[in-house]
Formats: sequence, C-alpha cells, structure tokens
Amino acid sequence: MNLISSRISFWRNILSKRFYGDASKKKLECENKKAAASAPAAPKKPKLKKFKIYRYNPEDKGKKPTMQTYTIDLNDCRPMILDALNKIKSEQDSSLTYRRSCREGICGSCGMNIDGINRLACLYKIKPKGTTKIYPLPHMYVIKDLVVDFNKFLEQHSRIKPYLIRKSKEQPGTTQYLQSIKDRESLDGYIECILCACCATSCPEYWWHGHTKKPNDFLGPAALLHAYRWIMDSRDHATADRIKQLTNYYNIYRCHQINNCTSCCPKRLAPGVAIANLRLLVGGFKKKNKPDMDGAAPAEPEKACKVEDEDKCSSKS
Ligand code: SF4
Ligand code: SF4
Ligand code: FES
Repeated sequence: MNLISSRISFWRNILSKRFYGDASKKKLECENKKAAASAPAAPKKPKLKKFKIYRYNPEDKGKKPTMQTYTIDLNDCRPMILDALNKIKSEQDSSLTYRRSCREGICGSCGMNIDGINRLACLYKIKPKGTTKIYPLPHMYVIKDLVVDFNKFLEQHSRIKPYLIRKSKEQPGTTQYLQSIKDRESLDGYIECILCACCATSCPEYWWHGHTKKPNDFLGPAALLHAYRWIMDSRDHATADRIKQLTNYYNIYRCHQINNCTSCCPKRLAPGVAIANLRLLVGGFKKKNKPDMDGAAPAEPEKACKVEDEDKCSSKS
C-alpha cells in the first residue's frame, strides 16, 4: 500500500510541476507581450532610398534637361514607384510632372523608363537598395519632365480604325452583334492592351521609323496588335480592307521580330506574336476563321412600365 501511495504522489508531483510550470511560463510571456505593446515604439531606423529623375522644363529656355536626385524614407512610403513619385511631389517638389490616374495598371498613363526598362510606375515595386533612375519613355518628344507627347502614337492607333466595321450601315450603338464564346476567347491576349506605349517606345524600329512622314512610318507594335485584334474579331466585316491597308503602309515588314515589345509589356501581351500573325495573314498563309455566329441579337422585348411610370406612358400615348 505504501509503495502504491508513494508512486502516486511521485507522479502527481511531476505532473503538477509540468502543468503549473507551463501555465506560469505562458502567463509570464503574455504579460511581457502586453508590456511591450503598451511601451512607446522605438523609432524605426530610416530606410533611405535615392531616386534620380529626369527633369526638363520647356519654360527654362536654353536650359538642358538634368537629372535631379531625391531621397525618401521607405518606412513612410507605399511600395510602388508611383507611390515614391507621389511622395516626392507632395512633400519635396510640387513641380515634378508625370502622368498617372488609376494607380492599378488600367489606364496606361504612368508608362516611364525605370532602371532602363519601360514599365508602369504603379505596377513596379521600389527596390530597397541602390539608386533608381527614372526617365520619360524613350524616343518620344518630351513635353515636361516625365510627360511625353502621345499625339503621334494615338494618331497611328486611330489609323488602323480601332472599331467594329459592318457591311450594313446600322447606327452604331443601336444593335448587339452575336459572337460565340469560342470566337470571343480567341481574342484573349489582344483585347487587354491599355495603350501605355511601353512596347512601341522600346522598339528600335519604332524609334527610327515611327516618326517619319506618312505613309512610310512604322505604326509600331501597339497599333499593330490592335490591327490584328480587329481583323480577327468574328463580328468585323472589313478584314480585306484592313489587311490591304497594312500591306500598303509596308508596315509589318519593318518589324524584325526581336520582341523587345513583348518582353516589356506590363500586361504580358505579345505584340510580336500579333505582328507575326499579321504577316501570315498578309502573305495568305493564314486565314480568318468563319464566325460561329453572325448577325444581330434579337431586339429585347419592351420593358413593362413600373406602376409609378404608368402616368408618364399614358400621357405620351
Ligand atoms: S501591348 Fe502592352 S506595352 Fe504595348 S501598349 Fe498595349 S499594354 Fe502597353
Ligand atoms: S518584335 Fe517588331 S515590333 Fe516588337 S520590338 Fe521587335 S521590331 Fe519592334
Ligand atoms: S496610373 Fe494607371 S496604369 Fe499606372
């Protein structure tokens, strides 16, 4: 009996030590954490980051463009290059000029050359180390600082007629045209372009031939990607005219298929592939598929009047 009771007390001692010992340890940890949370936070070590930014003001007559250095603390800045530019503009130099709008890669406004590659400032993360150099998009006329003249680029885009052309002359916007899911999906990878011009301004052919006089100018990868998108659209009826236009402008053969355009596109599109496909179409090696569906969607039935609209309807009739 004595032996049994001594064993029981032995194990009781061990177990109670373990449990109460752990509980008190946890309690101590918890108290330490509370004390740390209530204590004033120690000042963070500043993470200083330098940016060298291209500056040009057309009003400073005779003054050449310069690179201006700004330093910011990354502890107090959101993670993207556009955040850094916004911080510099609001806290250090309100004269710094650049385009931006959506800050999420949708509007295509904030294209610029960051550390040697054309990118969207709102989608590119700040590198914590080293100095980041920011220039306007290359080989474009600079209006001020990082803002370049988009007129020529957009005029070239308008020349490929970036809209649906139908044989019948319905009033635009009055009819819905049918398109099968498969035909719609075949446009994936071509309709997502946001016209940021990162591709065109990284294309050596566009540098040399993009700004020559019409009709010998090279439309560039962005406009040609759109040309392919409208040619392949199953609802479009102007395929032959569109192809003829590209042949006349001698456009697609200026491309050397180096694919600088594809490697820098922030939307991960492949303008180089679109141009290769255009060549096949122009050369007759590829044909546009027949549409799975054609024609207009049936008109929607007239909506019944709501009770509160009944008076208006009856007064009209
Ligand atoms: S293809 Fe890409 S890089 Fe070129 S304009 Fe469109 S989104 Fe920008
Ligand atoms: S593949 Fe053609 S369009 Fe693209 S960068 Fe090269 S030359 Fe320019
Ligand atoms: S701000 Fe719109 S794409 Fe960058």
